[in-house]
Order: sequence, then C-alpha cells, then structure tokens
Amino acid sequence: MAMKTIDDLNVRGRRILLRADLNVPLDGSRITDDGKIRACMPTLTSLLERDAAVLVCSHLGRPGGAPDPAYSLAPVAARLGELLGRPVPMAADTVGPSAHTAAAALAPGDVLMLENLRFNPGETSKDDVIRGGFADQLASLAELYVGDGFGTVHRRHASVYDVPARLPHAAGYLIQAETAALQRLTRHVARPYMVVLGGAKVADKFPVVGSLIGVADQILIGGGMAFPFLAAQGHDVGLSLLDGDPDTARAFLDQAARSGVELVLPPDMTVAAGRGGTAPAEVVSSTAIPAGRMGLDIGPESAKLFSATLAVARTIFWNGPMGVFELPQYADGTRAVAQALADSDAFTVVGGGDTAAAVRTLGFRDDAFGHVSTGGGASLEYLEGKPLPGLAALEDDGGTG
Ligand code: 3PG
Ligand code: MG
Repeated sequence: MAMKTIDDLNVRGRRILLRADLNVPLDGSRITDDGKIRACMPTLTSLLERDAAVLVCSHLGRPGGAPDPAYSLAPVAARLGELLGRPVPMAADTVGPSAHTAAAALAPGDVLMLENLRFNPGETSKDDVIRGGFADQLASLAELYVGDGFGTVHRRHASVYDVPARLPHAAGYLIQAETAALQRLTRHVARPYMVVLGGAKVADKFPVVGSLIGVADQILIGGGMAFPFLAAQGHDVGLSLLDGDPDTARAFLDQAARSGVELVLPPDMTVAAGRGGTAPAEVVSSTAIPAGRMGLDIGPESAKLFSATLAVARTIFWNGPMGVFELPQYADGTRAVAQALADSDAFTVVGGGDTAAAVRTLGFRDDAFGHVSTGGGASLEYLEGKPLPGLAALEDDGGTG
C-alpha cells in the first residue's frame, strides 16, 4: 500500500501533530549531537512555510511514564528554535491543560513543542486500551498527523502507532529518505554484504543477529554485543556488560556455522576496572578477560581484523559503537570501523542515533558514508524485514487529509 507524504496533504491553516524522533544524546542539559533535530527540519520548515500550525512531539530517553525534569525536551525546543531562527515555545505537559491552551492559541505558521511523550504511561503501554486512551488525548490536540520519527517506527507506541489510526496522516521527508536508502540493503544487494554490530542496548538488538544470519555474508560483532558470544564460547568476561543471553548466542553461533555465515568476534579487548575513565586501561585477549576487569573497547588486533575484513565488502551496514567512545581511551575501535567505512568503495550505511553521534564526535562527516540513518533499532528491524508499526500505521487510509 502506498504511503501518503506531506506533499499530498492540504496543510494550510490546519493544526498538525508532528511525531519526530528528537531523542538526542544529552550531557546534563547540553545536547552533544543534534543530528536528529537537524534531520527533522525539512519536514518542519515545509509545514510551517505552507502555513500549518505545528505541534512537535517526541520522546526523550526512557523516563518510565512519569514527569522527570532530567528528561525534559526543553533543551531540544531551544535548539529547534536556533535552527528555525525563532523561539519554539514549549508546553509544560504533553496532553494536559498547558498543551491544550497553547495548541488552541496557535495561528497558521506557528510552532509548539509538547513535553516528553514518555512522561505519560499510556505512550508505551502494552495495553491497547490504555495506549488508545492516551492516543485519543494526543489526537484531540490536532486535525492532521505527520509521522517523521524514523528512529521510533519499530515501537508500537501511542504517538507512533495509535494516533495515525485516529487522524488523517502522512509521512514526512525523513521517513521517505530513510526508507529509500534502506531499500538498497534489502533489494539487489551487492555482495559481500557485511554487518557490524555493537552498542550497549544489547538485549534490544540481540534477536537481530539471528535474523541477519542468512541475509548478510559476514557479521562483525563488537561493543557490548560481543560479551554474550564470548560467554557462550565458555570464556569468562569479568565485569563486562552481559546484557544478552549466552544460550541464545550459542544458538546463533551454531546457526551461523550451519549457514556458512561468519560471525567475526573481536580477538582482543581494551579492559579496565571501571567505566569512569580513571582506572588504567590494558589490552588483553578476549578469551582471557581477568576477573575484576570489564571490556570497554575492542582491542587493536580486533580493529585491524575488522578493518581488513571490511575492506573487501561491497555493502556495509553498521549499528552500534565498538566501545565507550565518549572517553578517548576507548574510542579507537569505533574510530577504526568508521575509518574502514569511510575508506570503502562499498555502499555504506551508519545506522542509529548513537552510532551517528559517535562518528560525528570522532570528526567524520556525514558525507563520508553512503547514508547516515537516525534509526538504530528501527533500521535493524527494517533490514530484518519485520513489519514496522510506525510505517504500517502511515499507509494510505484513503482519506482526503
Ligand atoms: C533511539 O534512540 O533508538 C530511538 O529514539 C528509540 O528510543 P528507544 O529505544 O528508547 O525506544
Ligand atoms: Mg538507538
């Protein structure tokens, strides 16, 4: 089914709820990478130039269903205002009196930011009735819905999945651009096709490994993703993050061996006694991580192995940093993978807000890669061929908008 885009919508003078993914990395209230905010600008400016009144909504972090000032979207509204060249007012709540009063006062061409969607338990509830109740409240704020938060389309959340069932809707430019780029990884893929997986949200992304066996020719595994595999092979991982189930990892290793797909694990690790950056770091074999130490980056041998492996790829998808890149002593592995992609002639995709932020922090420009996706979990699930609730919900409802 076709998806309507904002070009198909008559938006003039209408109140639009724009669901963006403005879940940016923060250091206190300082935004350390504004890539997701910049990525939503084409859609936002188009709607405003066409005299829509736009209510921007997003989640930030995982505050757990109650207001928490540490997760306020206020810094995001401020940055959005800088990029737009005019202040972006912010409601004190998401669907409460502040949001309603501010929404009612909007004139064509005005913009308003709602407070964090996840301050409300209904946003992420697994109960359709509770989620639907929150979706009703959100929908009552606007006449049209625009989905452009590509990074959240894999979430069956109220603002992503249930609101578009209640309002005439269309996809924004970011969702269009992301799906166009990722299609190149699902149709007529140039081989060898290699996938690099890392990062810290391991439990979330672990099942993807199984789905990508048989899709990719080689899967290189670093970051927190490596430890369940090392544990599955019978190695002690010390204090390392062990957020994925070793039994599942063992099943993936067997499945890969049967399918002739190589899972490349890092042969060495940079370890320390703590994550804080003050404990001295050392390089050890991945099969001999000492008790009392945690792996914080792939080691130099691993970086070399990964770079050499990637050098012959014709398609590369990368999600998840190789280590705690925020600290310079644990950034080498992530830098090596970024460099390997930048040097490659392959079609390269860097997927995920964290990974994109990592490569920018390390000084790589977006144009060093074929595509930089704002969605990590979302792009992985797209590659797995899973139906994505936030895309399904945007399919044409036949309405006139
Ligand atoms: C992300 O940063 O991956 C997206 O914003 C989704 O966030 P979530 O994993 O907390 O749902
Ligand atoms: Mg992510």
